[in-house]
Amino acid sequence: MCGIVAYVGNRRAFPILIKGLQRLEYRGYDSAGVGLINNNKIITYKQAGKVSDLLEHVGDRDISGSIGIAHTRWATHGPPNQINSHPHSSSDGRFSLIHNGIIENYASLKKVLENKGHHFKSDTDSEVLMHLIEDVYNNSLNGVEDKEDNRLFKAIRIALNEIIGAYAIIVIEEGNKDEFYAARKGSPLVIGVGNNEYFVASDASPIIEYTNKVIYLKDGEVASLNKNKDVVIKTIDNKKQSPYIEELEQSLESIEKGGFDHFMLKEIFEQPKSIVDTMRGRINPKTNEIILGGIKDHESRILAADRIIIIACGTSWHAALIGEYLIEDLARINVEVEYASEFRYKNPILTNNDIVIAISQSGETADTLAALEIAKESGALTLGICNVAGSSITRETSGGTYTHAGPEIGVASTKAFTAQVTVLTLFALRFSQLRKTVERENYNFLIKELTAVPGKIEKLLALNDNIEKIAKVFKDASNFLYLGRGFNFPVALEGALKLKEISYIHAEGYPAAEMKHGPIALIDDEMPIVVIATRKENYEKIVSNIQEVKARGGKLIAIVTEGDTEVKEIADYCIEIPKCFREIAPLLTIIPLQLLSYHIALMRGCNVDQPRNLAKSVTVE
Ligand code: M6R
Repeated sequence: MCGIVAYVGNRRAFPILIKGLQRLEYRGYDSAGVGLINNNKIITYKQAGKVSDLLEHVGDRDISGSIGIAHTRWATHGPPNQINSHPHSSSDGRFSLIHNGIIENYASLKKVLENKGHHFKSDTDSEVLMHLIEDVYNNSLNGVEDKEDNRLFKAIRIALNEIIGAYAIIVIEEGNKDEFYAARKGSPLVIGVGNNEYFVASDASPIIEYTNKVIYLKDGEVASLNKNKDVVIKTIDNKKQSPYIEELEQSLESIEKGGFDHFMLKEIFEQPKSIVDTMRGRINPKTNEIILGGIKDHESRILAADRIIIIACGTSWHAALIGEYLIEDLARINVEVEYASEFRYKNPILTNNDIVIAISQSGETADTLAALEIAKESGALTLGICNVAGSSITRETSGGTYTHAGPEIGVASTKAFTAQVTVLTLFALRFSQLRKTVERENYNFLIKELTAVPGKIEKLLALNDNIEKIAKVFKDASNFLYLGRGFNFPVALEGALKLKEISYIHAEGYPAAEMKHGPIALIDDEMPIVVIATRKENYEKIVSNIQEVKARGGKLIAIVTEGDTEVKEIADYCIEIPKCFREIAPLLTIIPLQLLSYHIALMRGCNVDQPRNLAKSVTVE
């Protein structure tokens, strides 16, 4: 959570920082702040609220300076007010710091520092880290080691050795307008390398406008970034590292709204293209063979595996559930899906015959990363399915596959979900060929069905106006129930999550047959029930469930296969999806549910791209 951005060079820092914060606002948006060095003094502006509130607060005050740091916050320690927002300064105001992450031992460090005479203004763990660096700077240094190692660079490294937890930090120093320091462990940080200028940010979006040369700082590394010098990187235990400069492939258009009112809507409409991008180069058009470069070297282990465990959170966890249905059904490998947050603490039984797949859009989710660590320690083969290139999970796994959905900015995940399901379908089909569990003819049909998905989604997107009309009818409901069976059960969960996170309507997803074991008690004529009742997936069974709902007065919105007549007679509203195999259905049935949530949230006046209390990347426990 939290977005950080910094600039040093010869341009005016403030506009770069503000634009950067606006691009990172999806990471946290309850308060924001900027620190600039002007006339050798650090000037700080902070404000509760969004980046636009910060801008209003700054008004026409002095914003000159060509070095600065900026932060957009998702509160962890202390409420989102002006005092708790970043940057945080040292006692004497000489240093200023921005931080993303959580310092787990901040309380004990704070006590030690208070006993030494430090006073704290905020409730944050970040201010404690700033004071710790200051304390080391003032009291624990025995001279500098070499020309590259100035006092603050060294103090930061020593202080970070005391830290338990996660951080991405940037520190500036009064009187030094040429240089700042950046460090990371567990929270993402990218350095953009320009000509006599450096950019640092939580992801590449604030950087790509200026340079495509980037360095991904590794865990436990600290960088000294002086606009007149090459970057110097050292580990916190003082080992010099060679910087590895990579080229960014992302484009500027990919992070802009491109004519849509919201990122979420743009990302929903991008799905025909993003799914093509996910499949690109991975299916041989002549032979239908699936080629997945990132798992190729591990295929013998996959062939011999006893079990696959998929770890994930939120929407990625829903994709994992679909993966379970796909892999068990097609490749006949036992699959277990675990919430990463539970898995990491449950003392799991793992062997080196297990394969652990971590699914994460951001590749930075703290629980998924921690669960992955446990899997690695057990000797299991670890694979990742991630969207963000170079993210921590991609670096911590032995192999894996990028989803290539492009940057997802809307906090509610849409195109990343369908990209994850596409990769899981490719995995299941590839594994089925390795294990010879699916007849070639059937395999070829499935490949045909999968490659037809983008075209079918185009058809579904054309129903947007009808879905908006349905949304109008139900926008004031207080509760929703989503029901599905088989492959569509995880879609019911995901549909409910989409609605609750952006419209704040209480919504639950259930396997349709479970309804009569409890949730049926909720049904009355006020209750909208979304039922996914596509053809062939336990169709007759779900029709009975629909009858049960109808008999109790529930209002039914049904997702059906085109040409359906039976459900149409019972349901209040029907949305038709094109005919498809049941294995492919989730990629289609989720689309109307995404649109329904979007329109309902919009009609209720909610901020669809930045829903309250949420952040895109959950890098804290
Ligand atoms: O980046 P990840 O895929 O690991 O994130 C996992 C969840 O935090 C994420 O899917 C969350 O549930 C989204 N808000 C869903 O829209």
